[in-house]
This record gives sequence, C-alpha cells and structure tokens, in this order.
Amino acid sequence: MTINGGRPLSGRIELKGAKNLVTKAMVAALLGETPSVLRDVPAISDVGVVRGLLEVHGVKVSDGDAEGVLHLDPSNVESANFVDIDAHAGSSRIPILFCGPLLHRLGEAFIPDLGGCRIGDRPIDYHLEVLRNFGAVVEKLPSGIRMSAPNGLHGAKVALPYPSVGATEQVLLTAVRADGITELRGAAIEPEIMDLINILQKMGAIISVDTDRVIRIEGVDALSGYDHRALFDRNEAASWAAAALATNGDIFVGGARQPEMLTFLNVYRKVGGGFEIHDDGIRFFHPGGELNPVIIETDVHPGFMTDWQQPLVVALTKATGVSIVHETVYEQRFGFVDTLVEMGATIQVHKECLGGQACRFGQRNFKHSAVISGPSRLHGADIVVPDLRGGFSHLIAALSAEGVSHVSNVGIISRGYENFINKLEQLGADFVLEA
Ligand code: EPZ
Repeated sequence: MTINGGRPLSGRIELKGAKNLVTKAMVAALLGETPSVLRDVPAISDVGVVRGLLEVHGVKVSDGDAEGVLHLDPSNVESANFVDIDAHAGSSRIPILFCGPLLHRLGEAFIPDLGGCRIGDRPIDYHLEVLRNFGAVVEKLPSGIRMSAPNGLHGAKVALPYPSVGATEQVLLTAVRADGITELRGAAIEPEIMDLINILQKMGAIISVDTDRVIRIEGVDALSGYDHRALFDRNEAASWAAAALATNGDIFVGGARQPEMLTFLNVYRKVGGGFEIHDDGIRFFHPGGELNPVIIETDVHPGFMTDWQQPLVVALTKATGVSIVHETVYEQRFGFVDTLVEMGATIQVHKECLGGQACRFGQRNFKHSAVISGPSRLHGADIVVPDLRGGFSHLIAALSAEGVSHVSNVGIISRGYENFINKLEQLGADFVLEA
C-alpha cells in the first residue's frame, strides 16, 4: 500500500463478531449432535483457517443467505488425514482448541504446529496440562501433537498459574462433555469467554461462573447445535478509536458497545479522546487541543487489554508529555515501536517493570515497558507489517504521518480486520493498493 498520510479519518464503519470469539464458537460446533448457526462472522483469514480445519474433520460448513452467517453441520465428524491437517500448520493458534472436542467425538486428535503472531514465546504448556488432567494421553511428535483418551475424559480440578484465555477455553470445551464435575480456578473472564459460555449453555452445557475467577462445569452426555450472534469485536473497535485520535479524525464504530469497553473508554478519556455512546455504536473523535500522556499497564480482563496497547501507542506519540505502557501479558509486544521511532516517534523500551507493579517479566531480560515522549510529528517510511495488531498500528502511523509511506505485507492485517481496505476508503484515507 502506498499511503499519503496526514488526512483525518472520518465516517462510519460497521463491526462484525469478535475474531477471538467467532473462531472458538466454530470449534464449539464440533461438540453438537445437530447443526449450529453462527451470525456476524467476519470475513477474515483466521475464520478461513478454522473453517478449513473443521472441513477436513468432516464438518460441513456453508455460508447462509445473509452476510456473515455460517452453518456448521458436525453430523459426520471423522478423523482427518495427516496431510490435510498439516496443510494448516503454522497458520493459527486455534487448532490447539480442537483437542477436547475431537477427543470426545473421535477418541483421538492430531494438532499441527501452531501459528499466530510472534509476540512472545506463546507456549502451550497450560493446554497440555489441562488435557492431561482430564485424562488425555499426550504424545509430542516432530510434526505436531497426537492425543488419545483411552479411558475417556473425566471432570477435573484445574488451577491455572495465569488466567490464560486459551487455556480457559480449553477447559470449557473439554469439560462440558467430560464425565463429572470440573472446577477451574484462576480462569480468564474476558467477554469473549463469557460469550463462549453463552453458546455452550445454548448447546445444553451446565456452567456457573463464580466470584474470584472460579468456573464450575457439570459434564453432560450430549450437546446440540446452537444459533448465536457473536459478540462484537472490541479489539477492532479500539483500533479504529485509536485511529480517530491519531489522525485528528472522527469515526463512528457501528456495533461497538460500552460495557465490554469500559476500561478502554476510561483511558481514551484520560488521553483526551472524545466519545459518545449510541444505541447502535460508539463515536470516537479527536475533540481538538492537546492530547494528554497516560501511564497504563496491560492486564487480563477487566484490565486494559494487551491488544489495545499497540494502536493506542501511536496516538500517544501525539500526546504532550511522557506516557508509560507496561505490557504484562506478552513479553515481546513492543517490536512494532522500532518502526514508529524510524517515523519520528521518541519511544524507549525497557526491561524494568515501569509505571505499575512488578509483573512476571521483571528481571527476565524482556523489554516490556515503553516510555513514549511527545508530541512527535511522524513522517512517512517504508514499512513491513510484522504482525496483526502491530501492523494495524503501523497503518495508523502511516495515515497520521506527513508524507508518503510504502507499507508491505499488509495481508497479515486481514487475519483479524474484516475489509479493512474498504473501511479505509469509507473513512477517506488517501492510499493506493498495489497488486
Ligand atoms: C488470546 O490469545 C487472543 N488470541 C490474543 O489475541 C490475546 O492477546 C490474548 O488472548 C490475551 O487476551 C485469540 O483469542 C486467538 P493467553 P491466547 O493464553 O489465548 C501465557 C490478537 O491480536 N501462556 O491468554 O493465546 C502466554 O504466553 C491475539 O487478536 C502460557 O505461558 O493468550 C501469555 O504470556 C494476539 N502457557 C499469557 O499466558 C500456555 O499454555 C496469556 O496468553 C498458554 C498461555
């Protein structure tokens, strides 16, 4: 993309369902004995990867008549052959969530090497430990992970060392059909997880969410399909909100809702961003004047989400004064700032835990605190998109910069942002897309 920066983005865009819910909801359909219907599914490549993996396991996936509707029929689930599964190696992290459902349906599962953004080590030790707790036998092979459940899967007491989103989903997707009761302590409680629980309850599951991150699941013998409209994508909403601020713009994000974004909205207000809550979405705008620096740390829900950090950092380069962002979820999520510095931002990243409490990454050589001094005038640059959120941040930086930027590898952004090219056009961005 060749971007001619410096034009405020303004207009209206519409969100669909959250990438980080929709992909898991598709996996949940595997557990049903009857077909499921999922609504508001975005056209993003991560959905394509999960669709492909479901199809190689015999799930019939078809588009509904209306846009964003997916029918998932798991009546003929079957073991996939290695080559078909391996074709999906390295493309997403969702395959690890197929384990529980496949073990229930087929008694075995094979998971290819995982992909996803390189923003830290991203191990799967919690997932494997959880599955072993349920009775799965895990065999690591050079080509992936093979699992079996010779004695079936049984409810378990599980305590996560950290409230991992994926490991919590692993427990839910495995426990709902396991024999007996599961108690999960240290669960993640992100809104996307709550919506997955909504879906599983529609399917016939019995799940209660107690205080202090405790979730209890009573296994049932059978589940049916569901009909569900996915929760909106609050990460995409926050990304466009940051774009409005960084470009002096005014963007109405249709479908965004306040309750799931309370923490983001508080920070947005402190930075000096304007927002209005409407029944059908949220308007985000730069109200004029200077932006303020903030000190924030990312955290699990209900804290400030790690996925919101990268787009917001671009807006913080425009704030007058020193901001600090302490990243406590991923150890290496500041790689994207090198490009911002090349574009004229003043940002240093430090190994120490700055601006908050000590986190898991303190004293461990990870540069996980960023100090941003502004205001900076960004100028155009040659940019290679590194990962999904970092890439979107680079787009915002280029759109807010003076002069021309050439941005390559933009395809990564379509992993999680539906039709972002059309949306940029709708918002009046000045760019040319090359073949
Ligand atoms: C989900 O990743 C999201 N991805 C991420 O969004 C999001 O940033 C993250 O949750 C936190 O909200 C999807 O939903 C597909 P975690 P997930 O397990 O589930 C460590 C985006 O841009 N950990 O909550 O993989 C891990 O290394 C993506 O949309 C282990 O140590 O995240 C990390 O430090 C990026 N061992 C922390 O836990 C494990 O077995 C939280 O990860 C699992 C995780």
